[in-house]
Amino acid sequence: MQYQGWESYWQSGNRDQALIADANVQSFIDQYWVLQLQAAIHGHTIGTALELGCGAGSLAPTIKHYLHGSVVGPLTVYLDISHSALARLNTVHASAALVQADMARLPFRNDSIDLILSQFGIEYAGTQAFCDSAGLLTSNGILIALCHHQDGCLVDRAKQAQRLLTEIVSCGMLPAAHFALTTLFDCIEGRQAHARFVEADTLLSPKVQAVGLLVRQHSHERLVIPWLSKFCRDFAAIYHHPQNYPRSASMVWLDNMIRELPAYLDRMQQLITASLSNTCIELIQSRLGQAGFAFQAEPLSVKGQLFAWSLRILRL
Ligand SMILES: C[S@@+](CC[C@H](N)C(=O)[O-])C[C@H]1O[C@@H](n2cnc3c(N)ncnc32)[C@H](O)[C@@H]1O
Repeated sequence: MQYQGWESYWQSGNRDQALIADANVQSFIDQYWVLQLQAAIHGHTIGTALELGCGAGSLAPTIKHYLHGSVVGPLTVYLDISHSALARLNTVHASAALVQADMARLPFRNDSIDLILSQFGIEYAGTQAFCDSAGLLTSNGILIALCHHQDGCLVDRAKQAQRLLTEIVSCGMLPAAHFALTTLFDCIEGRQAHARFVEADTLLSPKVQAVGLLVRQHSHERLVIPWLSKFCRDFAAIYHHPQNYPRSASMVWLDNMIRELPAYLDRMQQLITASLSNTCIELIQSRLGQAGFAFQAEPLSVKGQLFAWSLRILRL
């Protein structure tokens, strides 16, 4: 499945790698939406709203606060391709209208939505998604999107994470750890001779050293290193005290960690591919102009650090 990286991310219950924004950027983003939503509702009646690529609903509380503050709020639909993301959104906002769909094939009528929002979502469906979504807008409708900037710091971090993950995969530590742990449990259960474990441990040892070196070399990296350090810590606890950990639970844990890596790499690749360059922005602008929409694109920076595009599309 093309979106497996996101599905497994939202399934994992992990929240710290979706946006990869630091506190400054995050508070800027929070403020950005407050201002955008205040402006969008000022003097406008919003009957229908849609959030594209909503994930687990990090924007939902702000949307609820500003759009549903009145007695009769608009019908707000949250759309994402990931079932797990929507299931998580549903646990927090039980009454939200959820649609699981691909933004490249939007299941709505043209001219039916007053306000469309997206926070690092719409760009994942490619540049055509901007025109398709704009078509859904009612007259005077507006689409506001915060999108990844190809030269921004979030994309830089994704590239660093991608390089590091590739090194971890290619050093072969995870399969060696799996083999060593399986052999260790086999030995404890008397199914294999101790010599087999010594062999497996000898294979694992240089790979653990290689990963230790990676951790030291990239100690400031904030996405992969915390994950890797936690993995090494938990693995060492099981490996050195296997009597304290049931075999089946330990192997399930390890299998899950091993599965997370390719999904993580896939997510980073999707983020990099989705990010918008100046050329993409020009292309979107020209297509929207031909279709009769006004388009504004503004690069956003926090403390001199470029991180996103702010895009606004209006039906004229
Ligand atoms: C970077 S996350 C952002 C999630 C959320 N907006 C947030 O800020 O927390 C991107 C989201 O887009 C969704 N997504 C990616 N491609 C999609 C597609 N083609 N159609 C619908 N959703 C998609 C992913 O499942 C993921 O939840």
